[in-house]
Amino acid sequence: MSSDKIESVLGEKRVFPPRPEFVKKARLDAKKLDALRAAADKDHVGFWGDQARKNIAWQTPFTRTLDDSKAPNYQWFDDGRLNASANCLDRHLGARGDKIAIRFEGEKGDARNWTYKELHAEVCKLANGLLSLGITKGDRVIIYMPMTPEAVIAMQACARIGAIHSVVFGGFSAASLKDRIEDTGAKLVIAADGGNRGGNIIDLKKATDDALASGGKTVEKVIVYQRTKHSVNWDAKRDIWWHDLLATQSERCDPVWVEAEHPLFLLYTSGSTGKPKGIQHSTGGYLLGAHVSCQWVFDLRDDDVFWCTADVGWVTGHSYVCYGPLSNGATILMYEGVPTIPDAGRFWKICQEHGVTIFYTAPTAIRALMKAGDEWPAKYDLSKLRLLGSVGEPINPEAWMWYHRVIGKEKLPIVDTWWQTETGAIMMSPVPGATPTKPGSCTQPLPGIAAGIVDDSGNLIDQLDQGGYLVISKPWPSMLRTIWGDNDRYISAYWAQFKNKYYVAGDSAHRDADGYYWIMGRIDDVLNVAGHRLGTMEIESALVSHPRVAEAAVVGRPHDVKGESVFAFVTCKGPRPEGAEADALSKELRDHVAKEIGAIAKPDDIRFAENLPKTRSGKIMRRLLRSIAKGEEITQDISTLENPGIVAQLAGKA
Ligand code: WTA
Repeated sequence: MSSDKIESVLGEKRVFPPRPEFVKKARLDAKKLDALRAAADKDHVGFWGDQARKNIAWQTPFTRTLDDSKAPNYQWFDDGRLNASANCLDRHLGARGDKIAIRFEGEKGDARNWTYKELHAEVCKLANGLLSLGITKGDRVIIYMPMTPEAVIAMQACARIGAIHSVVFGGFSAASLKDRIEDTGAKLVIAADGGNRGGNIIDLKKATDDALASGGKTVEKVIVYQRTKHSVNWDAKRDIWWHDLLATQSERCDPVWVEAEHPLFLLYTSGSTGKPKGIQHSTGGYLLGAHVSCQWVFDLRDDDVFWCTADVGWVTGHSYVCYGPLSNGATILMYEGVPTIPDAGRFWKICQEHGVTIFYTAPTAIRALMKAGDEWPAKYDLSKLRLLGSVGEPINPEAWMWYHRVIGKEKLPIVDTWWQTETGAIMMSPVPGATPTKPGSCTQPLPGIAAGIVDDSGNLIDQLDQGGYLVISKPWPSMLRTIWGDNDRYISAYWAQFKNKYYVAGDSAHRDADGYYWIMGRIDDVLNVAGHRLGTMEIESALVSHPRVAEAAVVGRPHDVKGESVFAFVTCKGPRPEGAEADALSKELRDHVAKEIGAIAKPDDIRFAENLPKTRSGKIMRRLLRSIAKGEEITQDISTLENPGIVAQLAGKA
């Protein structure tokens, strides 16, 4: 057995207690954490009320902490008023005005730092620019930008005037962008000409033009930040350069005070059915969750350089690039590109050169860098690092141990953080100065988070090591408020299963003898490919929209770097393609999915069959397809199949 395999078998038994050097300086040690937990257990609502008063700058203090009269549409701090951008910028201008807020490095090596004062000035200029275009409180603004500070500036400028932003990941296609523009009814798009990624230019302006040529009629103006300076098409009536708009704007813009429940942003994510859902987050509760979790989980201090590698197009980029660290007055690092340009040492070189102290990334990146070899991190001085984090997918013990040994030099705490777009902030994680860690476990819920595991009938499972649905049994401030424009779907997707008693996360989990949680993965038809959430149904409808495709079924297949990859089974109109024809059509379908959704959703494997395995009642046998995708021996009963002969075709053996 290889040493990695041995580790993976023994992994679950290892325990790494916090090291005394870390505990000594930590914001929270075990005693303080216990006190917080006890306070939350004693008075859940009172605990969150105290946290909100202590951590958030309110323009009008709230008097009502939780309103549960319309549960599960919970409202927090609803008679309080605040502004998220004032919390992230203005409140630091006194003590931290000249402190660096953002250290930025482009993929090509260009770099620039922004102090809090400079960031504030730029946000105000853009906010004034938005106002000059007629954008006001409650209007939706789509942000489609590369990972440059201007993406954060755009988010903050929207928040400053009470406009609701919806960031669309730059890797999504024009068609996905159009869907999101139409669902939000956005009046404005803030885009860039392009971004640098993997040595290429991602042409964001062209995708914006294409999206707006095919729909999105609510959009009046497009602000274009000039990043890549390649030539772009220009619609003089609609398009405005960012630099032209900002040239004449004042560096002062009074924040628009909004009610705590005013939506701060919408962020689209995949579910098991239908189109992506616009997850709606509030201003007050969301900001509180992002803010306190930075202190509890990342032990954030004034001298830290915090690098969360997530793109702002994902929730991790919202909470741990933009709102959480900035509301704490931290210095963040933003990097535009991929980890392997010019070589697999790029991340470690950035850590060295920018003095990164806290590094937060996804297991996919850890596995890819582990595969690249220990010699890359060995070239760089990583001695400033003091805390490592993981997010977005289950981290396997081998990857955890590599992170611990090679990056953490067996000294640094690792926080494996479980949460979701819907939860707004980290829900379960070790607290680094207090919680002993175990490779592969996100350990325990944070204070004020009431997690549990229930069986099919909704009974809480106390028994150890028995798996079940991961649920949250009490409302928490940073929870989603609804699905934009579809409250029924909010209730049916997250609450209906157990009669509104629990928030159902969509993951399964079990607990060990120490009460530690182990996430086992999604229980619905959601895939997690390289830390990105994709719905199997979305990919199936993209495939079926191709003229040659009659029917498609998509499943996940375990992948050693990406965690999961997309595996599609397809039936065609006309004869089943074979040989060179099948290869050509596979390529065409992969490109078609990239066009419909984005390159992240491209199937790694496509198998053509005469039909799909269905039961006599017509249901696609997904479990069978999953086994076939994994290359497993088929032991399931296929006698109920309409056409048992196709199993060999699906398995690529006929
Ligand atoms: C998965 C990302 C195991 C999980 C913040 C969840 C994880 C989904 C972890 C949410 C973790 C996230 N361990 N699984 N530490 N973190 N997940 O909305 O399946 O993009 O439901 O939010 O990712 O993905 P989302």
